[in-house]
Amino acid sequence: MKKKALALALAACMAASLAACSGSSSETTAAATDAETTAAETSAEETTAGEETEAEETTAEAAETEAAGGTLVMATNAEFEPWEYHDGDAIVGIDVEIAQAIGEKLGMDVEIEDMAFDSIIPAVTSGKADFGAAGMTVTEDRLQSVDFTDTYADASQVIIVKEGSDITGSADLVGKKIGVQLGTTGDLLSTDLVGDENVERYNKGFEAVQALLQDKIDAVVIDSAPAKAFVSQSEGLVILDEALSQEEYAIAVKKGNTELLDKINAALAELKEDGTIDEIINKYIPAE
Ligand code: ARG
Repeated sequence: MKKKALALALAACMAASLAACSGSSSETTAAATDAETTAAETSAEETTAGEETEAEETTAEAAETEAAGGTLVMATNAEFEPWEYHDGDAIVGIDVEIAQAIGEKLGMDVEIEDMAFDSIIPAVTSGKADFGAAGMTVTEDRLQSVDFTDTYADASQVIIVKEGSDITGSADLVGKKIGVQLGTTGDLLSTDLVGDENVERYNKGFEAVQALLQDKIDAVVIDSAPAKAFVSQSEGLVILDEALSQEEYAIAVKKGNTELLDKINAALAELKEDGTIDEIINKYIPAE
């Protein structure tokens, strides 16, 4: 049943991405700032000549770019290896590298703000962060409060159980306790499957996995790549074959901030085109 909802969300997302795309070429051409030109140049066949003729249009836009201090604040939750996680004092991962590559294209620095997963969207809507990148799935619900860029990766929810568990698929989850990370699609999906009272919500996926190891819960529902990371780091856990959903990740920006949305989409398109996105993903998730 949730599959249907997610499929709808995907359809909505595609519509949204298309809308964003069709708006992007004219907007970026008309409003290219210095920072923007880096990203826009290649796609909008703009050359150096373009920069001079656009002098007056740049002023207003440039003021906005400068107000941001040339820095984009990225909200994330670094508890989600390989997408974002702590490595000593550093926060690393696929989203971090993609965001940095986007920053480079836009000529801006990226500053990471690590926070609870369910604080990311509020941070973006309040303007505390410029964008959220956190292995975040595009959903219809989230589209009510933020805009999403074009998607950059596919994912699915999977079930982690202890080796030898009698749970072999989603049908066996009824009446069982499922652990999830609070506010994630795994949370929503599990709530639909087994009811609110059977879902244990943790601030970190890691805590859900610990609870499973301690037999406090019967299964964990989480995104596929983090599930693999968790299972590889502990003894006695397995991931079931069944995928509970098909999802797509995108970057969240403040609703109506088409300027930033278009810039990020232009940068993302180039990074997809030249193979950078694949390269970053393959570095953290080697192809099987
Ligand atoms: N893809 C899931 C969602 O969007 C989980 C994302 C969790 N990300 C994180 N950085 N903790 O709800």
